[in-house]
Amino acid sequence: MYPAPLIEPAVERIQRIFHPAPLATLRPDSGAHFELYLAVPTRGGVKYLLYKAAEIEFTEKKRLELMENGVSTLYVSDQDGGAYCHFVDRTVGEMLASDRIAPKEKSRVLYETSRSLVQSAFERPESPLAVSTNQRVVTHTVTALAAEPTLLRTLVSMFTFDYSLYTHSVHVSVLGTGLLLEAGGWPADDVRDVAMGFLLHDIGKSRVPPDILRKPGLLSPWETKQIERHPEHGVGLMRHHEVMRPRALEVIHGHHELLDSSGYPRHLGGKNISVETRVCAVADVFDALTSHRVYRPALSGHDALRLMLDRMSDKLDDDILHLLIHRLGPNGRHAV
Ligand SMILES: [Fe+2]
Ligand SMILES: [Fe+2]
Repeated sequence: MYPAPLIEPAVERIQRIFHPAPLATLRPDSGAHFELYLAVPTRGGVKYLLYKAAEIEFTEKKRLELMENGVSTLYVSDQDGGAYCHFVDRTVGEMLASDRIAPKEKSRVLYETSRSLVQSAFERPESPLAVSTNQRVVTHTVTALAAEPTLLRTLVSMFTFDYSLYTHSVHVSVLGTGLLLEAGGWPADDVRDVAMGFLLHDIGKSRVPPDILRKPGLLSPWETKQIERHPEHGVGLMRHHEVMRPRALEVIHGHHELLDSSGYPRHLGGKNISVETRVCAVADVFDALTSHRVYRPALSGHDALRLMLDRMSDKLDDDILHLLIHRLGPNGRHAV
């Protein structure tokens, strides 16, 4: 009889880390050559079961079966993180460049992909994979909006009225990017950097207790304070990620600052708020007003802009508000 080993083999003790790979990001029949796992709840937490080996194709049939069974997310292990990120980058790029896909379908896929990737970032804000996969898709979105300005309207027409943090993040990113491009004079790299700030401007809300975030009634002063900490939480979470540039961090930190210094957390005045941060504030307020909330129904685009012009002209940048009116025009969900 062999004596029991004194030390367990190292491989047994290594805990593998799994990252969400939402179905919306897994374009079928496109060469997903990495392992995919299913998360199965257990009494103690969750375990990951191999769903597809690397050499097996992820097909449309598999995707539909998963959806029928209520599965919206598969998982990749740490070692396949780079392959997954590269896959999303490649397939989104190919989809946007394809002549055979209609603009409306491109917008739908981009919107769904972005929404589900933002959700992954909110669930794992510390994960470099979650943030860098978002950055790949943001880069494609900015490039596509710069090349084809009418895509903005098609994307905006996809916006859901129902408010969620994830759709709100995508809306602010799309509107903010459209506004920067409309303003002109912005080098493409700067727009891409800033767009990551738009997309993840509320990431700090992942650190605010959910019962406070979802509370329908009036908030107590202590609860309000917890919510008002989200810009600083956001900077704290994002500053370690290489892809988050200083301009994006400043947008996250400053998106609730207002021109008359009545904003938070630093009570900055007009001159100290960067143009891109003002753009984020306008897009943020506009999207919040045009979404259904538990405490009030959605306003039309026209009514939201009217309210912003009439009642917030000392708080929001007037030039940016007029750019928004000009950019969205008389059609779509946000008819003005
Ligand atoms: Fe916010
Ligand atoms: Fe927001």
